[in-house]
Amino acid sequence: MTDMSRLGIDFAGVHFKNPIIPASGTFGYGKEFEEFYPLSELGGISVKGTTGARRNGNLPPRIAETPSGMLNSVGLQNPGIDHFIAEELPYLKTKETVISANIAGSTADEYREIAEKLDNTDVDMIEVNISCPNVKAGGAAFGVSCEGAGQITKIVRSATKKPVMMKLSPNVTSIADIAKACEAEGADAVSLINTLLGMRIDIRTGRPILHNNVGGLSGPAVFPVAVRMVWQVANAVNIPVCGMGGVSSWEDAVEIMMAGASLVQVGAAIFNDPMTPVKITAGLSDYCREKDIMLSSIIGAVKPW
Ligand SMILES: Cc1cc2nc3c(=O)[nH]c(=O)nc-3n(C[C@H](O)[C@H](O)[C@H](O)COP(=O)(O)O)c2cc1C
Repeated sequence: MTDMSRLGIDFAGVHFKNPIIPASGTFGYGKEFEEFYPLSELGGISVKGTTGARRNGNLPPRIAETPSGMLNSVGLQNPGIDHFIAEELPYLKTKETVISANIAGSTADEYREIAEKLDNTDVDMIEVNISCPNVKAGGAAFGVSCEGAGQITKIVRSATKKPVMMKLSPNVTSIADIAKACEAEGADAVSLINTLLGMRIDIRTGRPILHNNVGGLSGPAVFPVAVRMVWQVANAVNIPVCGMGGVSSWEDAVEIMMAGASLVQVGAAIFNDPMTPVKITAGLSDYCREKDIMLSSIIGAVKPW
């Protein structure tokens, strides 16, 4: 088992034994990964995005491969907030890791209702997805303007005392301005990036590969974009940043932390190798021991030219 003594991170009032968290939508509710490792080895889990009512998601095909990445248009398939609270959360809370509920809505009222319901649970924090590119009337409508992002932050903030982390879209002109709008309305943290909007076409049929026509790009292809955006946001706000987008090795985790991330989520890489999060944690532990440092000392340590 990995020595985690140098890996602890305090983030928005929550202690993480290490910074590595499977990203929302790539880890379900964790159960199917317990045959590989105990969930307690993870810093935390960002569970599959939860909406007010059950959603079946988009029609298939919902996944397309891309060079060094993937497109998905799953469309927030999930069993709804009441199922999550009654059936999934109690089991997850026995796992000695931080549980972050990821929520999404089509309306401001839906975000409020979900946040109010979670406030009465023992979930550790709430990650608010305002950036899903795969749902027509979904959160992305809010996440692409400072007004929308600020509006949802304010509503969720007033609905719960839990730490609130706003998950930002990269499909914007200035992600730093959106982060500032969230900070101004009381967000405790921001996470980024969600997927980049993309498209692929089957040239034999002339049809888009995804039934939804477009989908979200993730995986190693987006990593440099994620590093750039984490760096810009970390320099623009005074709240902590949770970084993600294409992280697949411990070296990537160090890099995105040097850009300014305090925590790191790992998504698409889990589909290649379910062991990725614990391999990254082990690599970070070796790195800290060899350099004789605490991992937190590298956050934002990039020295720009
Ligand atoms: C299949 C799939 C489903 C996803 N579902 C969600 C979701 O429900 N909520 C959310 O906030 N992000 C969701 N995401 C986005 C990821 O959490 C993450 O932000 C993004 O994939 C970038 O990280 P990565 O390159 O490491 O995958 C999903 C991503 C994938 C690939």
